[in-house]
Amino acid sequence: MPAPQASVDKLRARRFGLFVHWGLYALPARHEWVKKRERLTDEQYQPYFDHFDPDLYDPRVWAKAAAEAGMKYTVLTTKHHEGFCLWDSDLTDYKATNTPVGRDLVRPFVDAFRAEDLGVGFYHSLIDWHHPEYPVDTLHPRVDDADFRASQAGKRDIEKYRRYLHGQVEELLTRYGDIDVMWFDFSYPGMSAYDLPGKGRDDWDSEALVKLVRGLQPDILINNRLDYPGDFTTPEQFQPATPPTIDGREVPWEACQTLNGSWGYDRDNLDWKSPDLLVRMLVDSVSKDGNLLLNVGPTGRGEFDERALATLSEIGRWTRRHGRSIYGAGPSAFTPPQDGRYTQRGDRLYLHLFGWPFRHAHLPGLAGRIKYAQLLHDASEVKFREYAREDTDSNIGVKGVPEGTVTLELPVQRPDQLVPVVEIFLK
Ligand code: GLC
Repeated sequence: MPAPQASVDKLRARRFGLFVHWGLYALPARHEWVKKRERLTDEQYQPYFDHFDPDLYDPRVWAKAAAEAGMKYTVLTTKHHEGFCLWDSDLTDYKATNTPVGRDLVRPFVDAFRAEDLGVGFYHSLIDWHHPEYPVDTLHPRVDDADFRASQAGKRDIEKYRRYLHGQVEELLTRYGDIDVMWFDFSYPGMSAYDLPGKGRDDWDSEALVKLVRGLQPDILINNRLDYPGDFTTPEQFQPATPPTIDGREVPWEACQTLNGSWGYDRDNLDWKSPDLLVRMLVDSVSKDGNLLLNVGPTGRGEFDERALATLSEIGRWTRRHGRSIYGAGPSAFTPPQDGRYTQRGDRLYLHLFGWPFRHAHLPGLAGRIKYAQLLHDASEVKFREYAREDTDSNIGVKGVPEGTVTLELPVQRPDQLVPVVEIFLK
């Protein structure tokens, strides 16, 4: 049973969301997989639990930054692979309430984002590197330690972990009101090491888990990482070249992307994407009928760091003026010129110019279809000419333009916008 179409349509129309990866890994501040990468024992990881005290945490500030960036929904890591829970779960002691911060961090988050009119989703890790019943496998931080493997052999019961997983999902979906998205992460049935198999639908009992989620929240959307059919697919850290398909059918999708290659706060990582690249990624997604879920990894003090805030506010300067080409918009049947992307909403066609041409943009197939055109950021008119027949030999005007083309006349100076957009009113 898939989610209702209305829920899919709602997520699609929102187009741009905020992913938040926040947990104990904010303290080491060197990637959310630090426990695995550095093969840390629970004891070695414990200092991050003991010192987790985000005293500046005010999710209203996060929600405002997201809203001002033009984001329309959010997805929060309730638990990441490290196993640490941001809410006051009855099923574990490994939770925020037992750290120095001493409170449930999910409740204020949900309230703050709803107050800004943003949709709220939960990311929940299927993988758990802390739970004592989670069978050791290739992804476990200590799998390469033969003594550790031997000490755990036959000791861990996936059935017990599965009950924990389902129980926690039930908590999350009964305590915080209507949740828009349940974002599970992730399955790896084909990955094994030392004869220890990976994990997939049988381990999670994905079928029962999906039933549980839908039973508790019939309108919710579920992602595709349960090794079981979900409502949308989630390309990670790449932009699909064409709209993703499953069995030849286009499916709802959301690209998840980072600001700097890491999901958790990663202090020394300097691989920051520029705001204009991020806007191009957003536009590219919408032009292929997808969403963009852009991540921020808050610090251990509970803040978005300056670099993230600066990027979000630059993006917001763009979305404020260009939202018409994004929200509720989707792909167009017209073929854009080179280095351009079209989005369309009803009879408005939006040409996003990733490159800025010299004076002319040639739009195939649009002759006779355009009523009016303007630059979107300032509503200044863009004049255009139509070519009823092929014009191959003029010395003035424009040469070599195929029949049916419309040529836009653009200023030589590229508008100072992250991505300039021409709004075309179709007849
Ligand atoms: C992953 C990673 C991860 C991140 C994520 C987001 O597969 O394990 O750390 O949370 O997906 O898509």
